[in-house]
Order: sequence, then structure tokens, then C-alpha cells
Amino acid sequence: MLLHIPGLFSREEVQRIREALTQTEWADGKITAGFQSAKAKHNLQLPEGHPLAKEIGAAMIDRLWKNPLFMSAALPHKVFPPLVNCYTGGGSFDFHIDNAVRQPKGSQERVRTDLSATLFFSDPEDYDGGELVIQDTYGVQQVKFPAGDMVLYPGTSLHKVNAVTRGARFASFFWTQSLVREDSQRTLLFEMDSAIQQLTRDVPDHPALVQLTGTYHNLLRRWVEV
Ligand code: NI
Repeated sequence: MLLHIPGLFSREEVQRIREALTQTEWADGKITAGFQSAKAKHNLQLPEGHPLAKEIGAAMIDRLWKNPLFMSAALPHKVFPPLVNCYTGGGSFDFHIDNAVRQPKGSQERVRTDLSATLFFSDPEDYDGGELVIQDTYGVQQVKFPAGDMVLYPGTSLHKVNAVTRGARFASFFWTQSLVREDSQRTLLFEMDSAIQQLTRDVPDHPALVQLTGTYHNLLRRWVEV
């Protein structure tokens, strides 16, 4: 499932983030790429642990943990600290699948990359190209969202970033290990939870809601890994 999560950051916030990113020092994006994907990756990245990346990452995690859409769709267990990148001057990242397991620098803990996410800091009109192209079970999807919006998609997907031929595309990306490993099970739970939320708004006193909510939790209990 591919999910659009709008408005994690306001216009003013992304403006401030973009200004800070324009003034900072960047490194070659190959620093976090595997041996094979290094050949396909042509972009700039803030080094892991860069103060600005840490600040942006912490703000993102804070927002995400308060975001009902993210919580319901991702069922997050742990998150790899967000990284920040920039595509400019023809930069691109050819088709690849992300590494299955990531270990943050200086940490013992490893994160299984069940879900990938990209949060856009540049608006679509700020650059040409730069679409995130994702091969989903339903075909190829092209993503280019407004600044402040995020896309969440299965870590198992083949994906690429088209060359940026004008302007600059600033974004943050990270991985989430979910409490539910399988995308199909996670999707089913998300759809069921969305229906329960809607019924709770429309017919809050309906007795079947208790049973339905119970069934959601019993399915989650069956599939959850902690
Ligand atoms: Ni990737």
C-alpha cells in the first residue's frame, strides 16, 4: 500500500528547514548506500549524526508519533533516524530495493526496513524531474508531493528517483520496522481501523462497534511481533 500523509510540517516550517538546508555542508549520498546501490545513487546527503539532520529527524518523529494516519498505517515498532538528502544538477537514484536491515551509526539496535518513507521539503514547482517512482503491486506510481507532505510505501518495493534537471529537491527519508511485518496484513488492519474510526464518528453508540474493535485487536494480537 502506498499512502499519502499530508501536512506533517506547515508552510513556514518547511520554509525554515529549506533555508537551513541551503546554507549547510553536504556529503556524497553514497555514504549510506550498499555496494550495489552506490553505483545507482547520485545525490547529496547530510552525514548521519549531522546536527541539522538530527534536529529535523527529531521533529519528524515527534510529529509522526502524534499522527493518527501514520500510527494506523505503519503500526511502528522502531524507526531508523531520518536522513536528509538533496537532488540537484541532474542528480538521480536508479531503480533499487533498500537494504532489508539497517543499523544506525553508534547503535547496537538494528531496524528491519518494513516501510520506507519520504517527506518532501521542496514544492513540486521548485524543481523539474525528481519524481519518486515506485513499482507497486498495482503498477508504477509517480510521487511528487507538496512540501511538508510524506509518502509511506512498502520497503519491499522497487523504486527510483528521476533526475532533477532544474532547481533542488530537498527531502528526508527513513525506514520503519512495523509491529506487523507483512504488508498485506498491515493493509487489512489499516482498512479495518479506518472503517472503525468512521463508524465511531457516524454511529458512536452502535453496539457492534465494541465487537468490531475487539476483532481488530484480536487480529493485531495474532500478527504482532514485539
Ligand atoms: Ni531507496
